[in-house]
Amino acid sequence: MSSELQGHGITLRRLVEADADALTRILADHEVGQWWEGYDRTRVLDELIAEGDGESYGIVVDGALVGLIQYYEQDDPDYRHAGIDLFVDPAGHRKGIGRSAVLVLIGHLIDGLGHHRVIIDPSVENTRSIAFFTSLGFREVGTLRKYERHADGTWGDNLLLELLAEDLVS
Ligand SMILES: CC(C)(COP(=O)(O)OP(=O)(O)OC[C@H]1O[C@@H](n2cnc3c(N)ncnc32)[C@H](O)[C@@H]1OP(=O)(O)O)[C@@H](O)C(=O)NCCC(=O)NCCS
Repeated sequence: MSSELQGHGITLRRLVEADADALTRILADHEVGQWWEGYDRTRVLDELIAEGDGESYGIVVDGALVGLIQYYEQDDPDYRHAGIDLFVDPAGHRKGIGRSAVLVLIGHLIDGLGHHRVIIDPSVENTRSIAFFTSLGFREVGTLRKYERHADGTWGDNLLLELLAEDLVS
């Protein structure tokens, strides 16, 4: 994992333990927490800051941590692709921060790590996220039925979107 990536007016940097409070505060906001459910400080430390299944970066604007973006890699050579996810502090929504973070990370995935395909799978109810990823060139593949378990134990449908390197709207 690169320790720092820069571009489009933002920096993506490695997360450290001292980031736990800021990330927990952002995740406690319903605007974010309804899609990233059940993250208390312990889970933030264990699953987002410590090495997990994927790689997480803090999104930094003017020195302030304003969100998180992460990726994982499917490394089977016959099916190679990356998946991403992110959240931005609601105080900074609709200012181009998410877009910048995705452009920087996908630039790294394509140019640095040699990926040709990136996927994302938001809840079908997360229309804001679907509009966001569509604006970047992601295309709808189809519905993943009863795909994600929610905090109340129910299974929700998600939408699989994919982006080929040549689709990226930069
Ligand atoms: C989705 C999210 C990351 C977008 O971040 P953001 O910094 O607000 O997005 P940007 O300002 O970069 O938006 C880029 C484009 O996405 C689209 N978009 C973003 N928010 C939108 C909204 N609420 N409604 C419609 N389109 C939207 C627009 O095309 C926008 O461009 P424009 O503002 O020039 O019209 C942010 O809303 C968020 O953190 N949501 C909660 C967590 C979440 O849902 N994460 C994704 C889980 S899959």
